[in-house]
Amino acid sequence: GPVLRELAAAKGVYYGTAVTASKLSGAYASLAGGQFGSITPGNEMKWGSVEPARGSYDWSGADAVVDFAEAHGQQVRGHTLVWHSQLPGWVSGGSWTADALRTVMTGHIATEAGRYQGRIDHWDVVNEPFDEDGTRRPSVFQTVIGDGYIEDALRAARAADPAAKLYLNDYNIEGVNAKSDAMYELVKSLKARGVPLDGVGLQAHLIVGQVPATLRANLQRFADLGVDVAITELDIRMPLPATDAKLAQQKADYKAVTQACLAVARCAGVTVWGFTDADSWIPDVFPGQGAATPYDEGLRPKPAYFGIAEALGWS
Ligand code: G3I
Repeated sequence: GPVLRELAAAKGVYYGTAVTASKLSGAYASLAGGQFGSITPGNEMKWGSVEPARGSYDWSGADAVVDFAEAHGQQVRGHTLVWHSQLPGWVSGGSWTADALRTVMTGHIATEAGRYQGRIDHWDVVNEPFDEDGTRRPSVFQTVIGDGYIEDALRAARAADPAAKLYLNDYNIEGVNAKSDAMYELVKSLKARGVPLDGVGLQAHLIVGQVPATLRANLQRFADLGVDVAITELDIRMPLPATDAKLAQQKADYKAVTQACLAVARCAGVTVWGFTDADSWIPDVFPGQGAATPYDEGLRPKPAYFGIAEALGWS
């Protein structure tokens, strides 16, 4: 059958997946290593995972994912250095001055991006900086440090790992809308001022039958600012139970998203947010919805998997 990582490489892009480190054995590991050309740790590189208490580090999960990727000749998307969620309480609940929090934030970036220096292809440096209306999300970083926290983070990441491609990443910016307009203006401003930024990640947590019609044009407008783009967390959920009709629509949707990336020269690749319905965040957060990934819970390929393969030129 088709091998997504080979089909993608022949098209000049990568096809990646998020993984859960503790599951990397058996058939799950065979598919993760065999089918995908890039790996994102789903949780293991988040601040709360690596430094739950100040100065107390646990790199076990992150190391396991990076080692796995290297053993399988895969790229790594580091995820993520600065995010409002899965932050340890000592960061989110601290009473900080701007200088003190900036020092802690850039120190965290130096420590984590420095540890993996030379081994990470793409870093999601800042994740989810915007609210839906395009205003800045009032995270502790935004509230205490102000708008400049994003460029502080990017500069710290460039210093820690000069070879890694540095990304800003967000959800609901797949189509042209208020939130993607805000990201567009931010990228334009950062590039104009020479802040180190290489790409924009569009997460793409989508709903069956609702791939934004403006996806391709939106990818292109970011690329036209002189940055790469990537689909970083693709999943396409449906109301359960899955039916043949919903799975057929999902196949068309996965195919369309993959085609949109291929149509934009600066689209680096696509990552699915879990490759199997057995390893997806959707049922936990959207009760009654699921079946959002390309493989079912028994690790059997779904129509969506073949939609991806077809978009990548397989027939
Ligand atoms: O590790 C604990 C475990 O010990 C405990 O028994 C269990 C009980 O609920 O929770 C486990 O932690 C969970 C963790 O995933 C690991 O499975 C957390 O509760 C759960 O909140 C966490 O969810 C993650 C979520 O980010 C947190 O916001 C999802 O796995 C992860 O897929 C999701 O990924 C995010 C991206 O980073 C950013 N974009 C959105 C995307 C989906 O929310």
